[in-house]
Amino acid sequence: MSITATELALQMTDVRKTFAVGDDVVVALDGVDLTVGHDEILALIGPSGSGKTTLCSIAGGLLTATEGSVVVGGQDISQYNARELTLFRRTAVGFVFQTVNLVPFLTARENLLVVDEIGPRTGARARDRADQLLEELGLSDRAKNLPAQLSGGQRQRVAIGRALMNEPALVLFDEPTSALDTELGDQVVHLIREEMKSRGKAAIIVTHDDRITHYADRIVRIVDGHVSGDTPAD
Ligand SMILES: Nc1ncnc2c1ncn2[C@@H]1O[C@H](COP(=O)(O)OP(=O)(O)OP(=O)(O)O)[C@@H](O)[C@H]1O
Ligand SMILES: [Mg+2]
Repeated sequence: MSITATELALQMTDVRKTFAVGDDVVVALDGVDLTVGHDEILALIGPSGSGKTTLCSIAGGLLTATEGSVVVGGQDISQYNARELTLFRRTAVGFVFQTVNLVPFLTARENLLVVDEIGPRTGARARDRADQLLEELGLSDRAKNLPAQLSGGQRQRVAIGRALMNEPALVLFDEPTSALDTELGDQVVHLIREEMKSRGKAAIIVTHDDRITHYADRIVRIVDGHVSGDTPAD
């Protein structure tokens, strides 16, 4: 069965990304073809330096591809200018990074609401959404805690909530569990899967952890900047 473009959260075609470093050119991505279905969870694995973070950054509009086309939820972002990319990042994608990057002087709830200032949600609607997300993530009783007053797993859950605030079609997780112990890492990935599946959202989860890949629908392996394997998860 063929998949139409509207059913895809992400379609990358022949994406190349190079960085100039002094007189040298580093090739980070070298002809990547990748599609992610609109409700698919993709685990992205591969050795250090293979291009995983670069791929996520391009899919999320944080970096632009040197060549190739990048279509996210039907938007061709490869031709976007800086302003269009900013709007795209605020409305269409969510990010969860390894280093959680919560604002240290804001509470858990305020860390979700801070998205509101840059995104489309306003006022009471945003507060309701933040409270709903905190509840779903099991954090209602920690809403007033500062990040320093939360455990590592709780901080990561706040970051997941923040990434979901604006109901993005695609959420990008770059090693979301690497700072957590195995059990907590399992819990967080389980939670990511539940949140994505119940909302019908797509996700790319970069991970070094083979135990986590069974939470994915598909496993894509990237080596030296290109896709070297693409298999359904068991
Ligand atoms: N801003 C940059 N300037 C120059 N080279 C870069 C830049 N960002 C990444 N690279 C290079 O591009 C390649 C891919 O890097 P990337 O961060 O995507 O790898 P990764 O797969 O995420 O690795 P890791 O598992 O260690 O996080 C590497 O060789 C890296 O050194
Ligand atoms: Mg990386």
